[in-house]
Amino acid sequence: MDIMNSDHTFPKSKSITSENLGIHDTSPLVDRFGRQISYVRLSVTDRCDLRCAYCIPKGFKGFEVPSHWLSFDEIERLMAIFVRAGVSRIRLTGGEPLLRAHLPQLAERLAVLPGLDELSLSTNATQLENHAQALRDAGVSRVNISLDSLVPEQIKCLTGQDAFAKIMAGIEAAQAVGFSPIKINMVIVPGANDREIDNMVAFCRARGLILRLIEPMPIGDSGRTITPYDLQETRRRLTQIFDLVPALIPGGGPAYYLQDPAGSFNVGFITPISRHFCATCNRVRLTVDGILHLCLGQEARVDFRTLMRSGARDEDLMMALKTAIELKPERHEFRESPEKIMRFMSSTGG
Ligand SMILES: C[S@@+](CC[C@H](N)C(=O)[O-])C[C@H]1O[C@@H](n2cnc3c(N)ncnc32)[C@H](O)[C@@H]1O
Ligand code: SF4
Repeated sequence: MDIMNSDHTFPKSKSITSENLGIHDTSPLVDRFGRQISYVRLSVTDRCDLRCAYCIPKGFKGFEVPSHWLSFDEIERLMAIFVRAGVSRIRLTGGEPLLRAHLPQLAERLAVLPGLDELSLSTNATQLENHAQALRDAGVSRVNISLDSLVPEQIKCLTGQDAFAKIMAGIEAAQAVGFSPIKINMVIVPGANDREIDNMVAFCRARGLILRLIEPMPIGDSGRTITPYDLQETRRRLTQIFDLVPALIPGGGPAYYLQDPAGSFNVGFITPISRHFCATCNRVRLTVDGILHLCLGQEARVDFRTLMRSGARDEDLMMALKTAIELKPERHEFRESPEKIMRFMSSTGG
């Protein structure tokens, strides 16, 4: 899929500093519940070449129109303000971020923002083989790769595409250009890949990849069609088999990590349903059309695209960001109200 846009025609803007931003308020972004917001998941497209069973519905046509996509200039301007306000990590995501034309150019512009500690990427890896080196050269420091199965037919069944070979080539390319550690995201879909957990553990152990097992979330129509899967029993079982102990992993986020005594195998559990992690949530999500979502499982949001395109000054955007953080809900309600969130993960930026 070729998603063209005119981002590459914009000149690289002059380097951004707090002085030329004209912003002097440096108080950190702390929400009503005392959580410091330091992490943005930045969706650069809501489109994708795959149709994972729990994410984008088959035949979905309601993608955001290109005129609403934030340009690279708009993204850089907004992220500079977020970083100035205390955000230290940005993750490029989507949809499939590698479908956004000239992504390495955007990465290059974000990676040098003063105060940003880490620029990372989540990808389905179908096109990573072609872009891994450029992304690394641009300053992307870590990649997370979705891989739900090691059986090519199961990948086809779960994603709607015969994508296994391309994903494997993407993982190899990421390792070859030196991304480390690489995390593998596996969403457990009962009846499809729940019997593959041990194989995936063996695969990741053998290749030095960090495995993250994820409970499916009831987001959008597709997310709700998946039978819930409680990972606590898997966690107990793997702990016993491998003698696992708690681990601290860079960019750990909501995952609960365990490692073997030698520290050579790490596995994370993302358990939004069986044991949620909202009390330590440090993130917000910006969609490709400039909507800031304060919680994956709630509707609280602020429209930065309209603000920017109606002439807001940097001070106004900073004020809007601080006000937005006040709106961050205490927690999601995936368990109590699984029918609540109609948008799906690829549109919010998972
Ligand atoms: C929305 S994707 C975007 C980045 C990229 N396309 C990918 O798949 O890695 C980010 C992550 O969200 C996860 N995800 C999507 N829908 C989900 C759902 N309903 N429940 C749990 N995880 C989900 C995917 O498995 C992936 O690891
Ligand atoms: S999870 Fe990622 S790869 Fe799968 S459909 Fe959603 S955006 Fe695409």
